[in-house]
Amino acid sequence: MSGIFITLEGGDGAGKSTQAELLGQWLEQRGLEVVRTREPGGTLLGAELRRVLLHGGDEIGDVDPRAEALLYAADRAQHVAKIVRPALERDAVVVQDRYIDSSLAYQGAGRVLDVDEVRRISEWAADGLWPHLTILLDLDPAASAERRRARGGTADRLESEAVEFHTAVRDGFRALAKLDSERYLIVDASLPIDEIQTRIIARVSGLLTR
Ligand code: TYD
Repeated sequence: MSGIFITLEGGDGAGKSTQAELLGQWLEQRGLEVVRTREPGGTLLGAELRRVLLHGGDEIGDVDPRAEALLYAADRAQHVAKIVRPALERDAVVVQDRYIDSSLAYQGAGRVLDVDEVRRISEWAADGLWPHLTILLDLDPAASAERRRARGGTADRLESEAVEFHTAVRDGFRALAKLDSERYLIVDASLPIDEIQTRIIARVSGLLTR
């Protein structure tokens, strides 16, 4: 397998999709095949799981934290098997919004589950596949909430969580990034879009010449 697997992480509203789009374009201009995808929801099964996880509402009642972690893991298993590995096998660059680190930060650090246990089920679901690079777009939860309000629309189940939850998630991401600086690039998400892109491209360029 010789493709490149890049994931983007961070709180809601940190600008992951914008940066993923820009990075995808930059890579395509270099003649590479790019697969842009996301979790949850990157497959047909995943789209169903995403609907339940984020917009289930009263229909599904209160979701137990272990059930929630397993649903994200199920989405991941299907996505890795059907989309990510096949893409890497044909030497594509996969640029993906959210991956295992989101489970560690949201289900682990943000909730009652043990981070190492979440890591175990997630790693099993992904059959041990870790990204070459994970870009953390780090943003203060108050600033993300402000961006969300400006964007309009209604908050999904996780977006509606209290600020303490989002702060725990942010701290969780930062702790993960500190532990693994080889895989992670932390970027201050309050910087201008083009400045963020420049920092991302500097790091990705290094991967292309590895
Ligand atoms: P989405 O709208 O895709 O993300 P964003 O807000 O970044 O645009 O929503 C995905 C939500 O699912 C987000 O709130 C984080 C959460 N999530 C988890 O809790 N665990 C996970 O493993 C993943 C992949 C996402």
